[in-house]
Amino acid sequence: MAQKNQIKVGFLGFGEVASTLSEGLLARGVEVSTCLEGRSQRSVELAKSTGVGLLDSLTELVELSDFLLSVVVPAEAVSVAKKVGGSFDGVYVDLNNVSPGTVKEVFSHITNGKTVDAAIMGGIKNGLETPIIASGEFAKNFAVLNQYGMNIEVIGTEIGQASGLKMLRSAYTKGVSALLFEAFHAAYQMEVDETLLRYLTQSEGSHFPASANSRLTSSAYHSRRRAQEMEEVVKFLTEYTDPVISRATCEFFQSLPDKTGPMPKKPEKYGEVFRKVDKNRL
Ligand SMILES: NC(=O)c1ccc[n+]([C@@H]2O[C@H](COP(=O)([O-])OP(=O)(O)OC[C@H]3O[C@@H](n4cnc5c(N)ncnc54)[C@H](OP(=O)(O)O)[C@@H]3O)[C@@H](O)[C@H]2O)c1
Repeated sequence: MAQKNQIKVGFLGFGEVASTLSEGLLARGVEVSTCLEGRSQRSVELAKSTGVGLLDSLTELVELSDFLLSVVVPAEAVSVAKKVGGSFDGVYVDLNNVSPGTVKEVFSHITNGKTVDAAIMGGIKNGLETPIIASGEFAKNFAVLNQYGMNIEVIGTEIGQASGLKMLRSAYTKGVSALLFEAFHAAYQMEVDETLLRYLTQSEGSHFPASANSRLTSSAYHSRRRAQEMEEVVKFLTEYTDPVISRATCEFFQSLPDKTGPMPKKPEKYGEVFRKVDKNRL
């Protein structure tokens, strides 16, 4: 039962991010809800197992929530904001990996909400402690959720600063992952991958074998999402430079799902990924 003055957070989309943040917020007494209209079985199961409030319509979610957190997929950030439109007057936070240009398009539809540009820095696996950066006039309103265990840093007062910083981080990390994949795929076929790993560890540091394995396996597992994110990075960087490497990284992630074939679960070791790619090539 909701208590008076209990803070109410609504999630638009209920995947990995929403379920992870919900768990922590529920444990700290926040009322958390979502609407599953049109969602896949996976999202339905995640929401039910997390124990959030399930509302029948988006209208109900909008009416009930003090905060609406958009955690859909980059390609749907605008369409979900269009559906919310002018009916919401609380704090609307876009946490999707989208470019500043897309964030501005998103907020052009939230005509009455207090809009906040925000970005998750890294994977959400650390739960509420995962660093989130936020910018815009109302970023400090979002940071109120730090009282409930979130780790939100307000980095500026302009819309576009948080999403822009996230894009720059993505350009670097995803570019490195794509390069690593290409080099290690060749090394694996030549049966020199472990030697390459050993030599790179000398220059990159002792964390390298574990981080390289994690980058290679998650690149394959999340390739579709990464491709969408890189499309946003290219769009953003084009305003400042000719993003040759980022365009190639985007193309790399767009072509990866066809190379690996279906990947129902994340492989443990990078060798599994390369065996699948090589088998599909035959
Ligand atoms: N996971 C991370 O560690 C991480 C880190 C940084 C940033 N992000 C960003 O956070 C966002 C969410 O990521 P995630 O990992 O939670 O993704 P996810 O697990 O794929 O979940 C996405 C959720 O959005 C729903 N959705 C898709 N289109 C929708 C629409 N039009 N209206 C309402 N809901 C819709 C999906 O529903 P269906 O099940 O029906 O498809 C699903 O519930 C993404 O933009 C991603 O770039 C994620």
